[in-house]
Amino acid sequence: MDKDKYYITTPIYYPSGKWHIGTCYTTIICDALARFKRLDGYDVFFLTGTDEHGQKIQKAAQAAGKSEKEYLDNIVGQLRNLWQVLGISYDKFIRTTDEYHKRAVQKIFTALYEKGDIYKNEYEGWYCVPCESFWTKSQLVDGKCPDCGREVQLTKEESYFFRLSKYQKVIEKLLEDNPTFLMPRSRQNEMINNFIKPGLQDLCVSRTTFDWGVQVPFDTKHVVYVWLDALFNYATALGYMGDDDSLFRKYWPADVHMMAKEIIRFHSIIWPAFLAALDLPLPGKVFGHGWIMFGSDKMSKSKGNVVDPFILSDRYGADALRYYILRVVPFGQDGVYSNEMFVKTRNSDLANTLGNLVSRTLAMVNQYFGQVPEPCEDEGTDAELKELNMRLYDKVAALMDEPDVSGAMDAIWEVLHRANKYIDECEPWALAKDESKRTRLSGVLYNLVETIRRVAVLLQAFMPDTAAKILTSLGIKDGELSGFSSLKQWGAMPAGGNVVKGEPLFARLDINKELKELDAIAASVEIKGDVKGADNGEDKRADKAEGVMTVDSINIEDFEKIDLRVGTVVDSKRVEKTDKLLCSQIDLGEGKPRTVVSGIAKYYAPEDIIGKQVIVVANLKPVKLRGILSEGMVLCASDAEGNLTLITPSKGIASGSEVR
Ligand code: MSP
Repeated sequence: MDKDKYYITTPIYYPSGKWHIGTCYTTIICDALARFKRLDGYDVFFLTGTDEHGQKIQKAAQAAGKSEKEYLDNIVGQLRNLWQVLGISYDKFIRTTDEYHKRAVQKIFTALYEKGDIYKNEYEGWYCVPCESFWTKSQLVDGKCPDCGREVQLTKEESYFFRLSKYQKVIEKLLEDNPTFLMPRSRQNEMINNFIKPGLQDLCVSRTTFDWGVQVPFDTKHVVYVWLDALFNYATALGYMGDDDSLFRKYWPADVHMMAKEIIRFHSIIWPAFLAALDLPLPGKVFGHGWIMFGSDKMSKSKGNVVDPFILSDRYGADALRYYILRVVPFGQDGVYSNEMFVKTRNSDLANTLGNLVSRTLAMVNQYFGQVPEPCEDEGTDAELKELNMRLYDKVAALMDEPDVSGAMDAIWEVLHRANKYIDECEPWALAKDESKRTRLSGVLYNLVETIRRVAVLLQAFMPDTAAKILTSLGIKDGELSGFSSLKQWGAMPAGGNVVKGEPLFARLDINKELKELDAIAASVEIKGDVKGADNGEDKRADKAEGVMTVDSINIEDFEKIDLRVGTVVDSKRVEKTDKLLCSQIDLGEGKPRTVVSGIAKYYAPEDIIGKQVIVVANLKPVKLRGILSEGMVLCASDAEGNLTLITPSKGIASGSEVR
């Protein structure tokens, strides 16, 4: 099944250190598409990486008192770790600080200059540091950045310009003649009406007021504008303008550039214009998906919005997080995240619909036959179940082509719902009581096993761990029975094999208990300050909201309600089955130490804190965390790069002393 090549990219991420469920969105979507296409026989190249230059990063490194490199290496490491936890199967991770990329960007800049498409002039206008975007006065909305609504700076400096205006016709034609280039369609009108029709203006592509970037080789006081530097990652990662461009020759142009909607202007207008200037083939598709929002509440603690993807995947499994992103957020539109929706969906769709179907079926196969039973002639609703199954691959493949990822997941869950209904219709437990119905019982269970196998084969693209568990429990190893070709005909599952009903795929959760625990974790892990210098925005996009905690004023009576005490850590241990929590015994001068569970295990080993004095919120309602009753909260401070430190008194003082 040799199909074409498929080159898919995520945008390269700003190393902000604020990893959120929102941050994972684009990458999880791309991973599902890449996995699907690989399984479907395409030669896939899946690229992701980090966007490490620009004023924003330089300021953040300065604020952290670190060199840019030191600051970046740590954060980029965290991001790569996150992708590993979430099972992201990228083929390459590019950093714009990689030497080969910087050299290639210099060659690109020189080539555009020599062609006359880059020229020197003076820039006077407005600059949004968090978005790294230039704006004219008329483009500002109420004097603020039209993309994110934040303050802009009046900037005047000698700059190089790219002749974007020269490519007006090319871009107009690209968007107007090619209805699937920019998707969803609504975004196309937005680009045409707001940016293209008013006339494209030449773009400032160098800066002189800071130096954290790729130097312009022939004028070294300039650094290349971050967006030019960043966009070309899609080409340099494949070796364009490098020593070996074989990947570039094989995979160029990108089939899909995936991103959230706020950066489609760069990808659907500026990027193709750069490529046209270099006579390079243009990308197949730019897809601008929606945002994950916290509703109107950006202060996560008040709604218990623990959205740290490390915590969610550790507690509930990476596949539960992948499922939420892939299915629950309608693809192309904004979607809301809440802990409540997350936990409820995990129970209903994963524990009930999927998990129960698998465990019920395997239990009945083992109980009634001890092995996969023989298929038999169709009866009742068999044909309907089979037909739905037989249409599923084509339907999912077409939806993944659009792409409509949540639509593809809906189609898979439709089959799961139908299969559960089929069990209720056929009542295998009743058939089992009547020896004359043994053949029918065999056929019903065979149909269910084959349905589960087929769904698991498709789920390998979306929820790889869960799919692997199901296939293993059906006794299927990698090979033909797990490939898409096994979906062509009904009945690839051989009869006679053993099945193993292992642990439940998704144990049912007590929703109230989980929500309380997530709240308590949110409270115990972070007390965040306003992050100055880095991303200090106000928009509701999940990652923008995080780290920007606007606290309403409280009066002194409110503050006095909090009983803060100095405690001495007399003992501390790691909490089993999590790498996040420490369980400490803290002496507050009450005769008996208190047990306090804190989310600091990534930052402190138990032996680091034994003997230390800490500040404890002593009158916090006790809460159970991982089955341990936690009787207080330890105060910590954390910064934008993910550093965390315990707050300790500067001199030793009696345990239990009041903090005021
Ligand atoms: N560095 C630029 C991209 C340069 S590409 C040449 C950038 N980086 S980002 O870190 O801010 O965003 C990376 C991706 O995550 C983008 O697709 C962005 O839109 C997406 N998202 C970040 N937060 C998001 C949500 N809350 N919801 C959905 N997607 C979000 O932009």
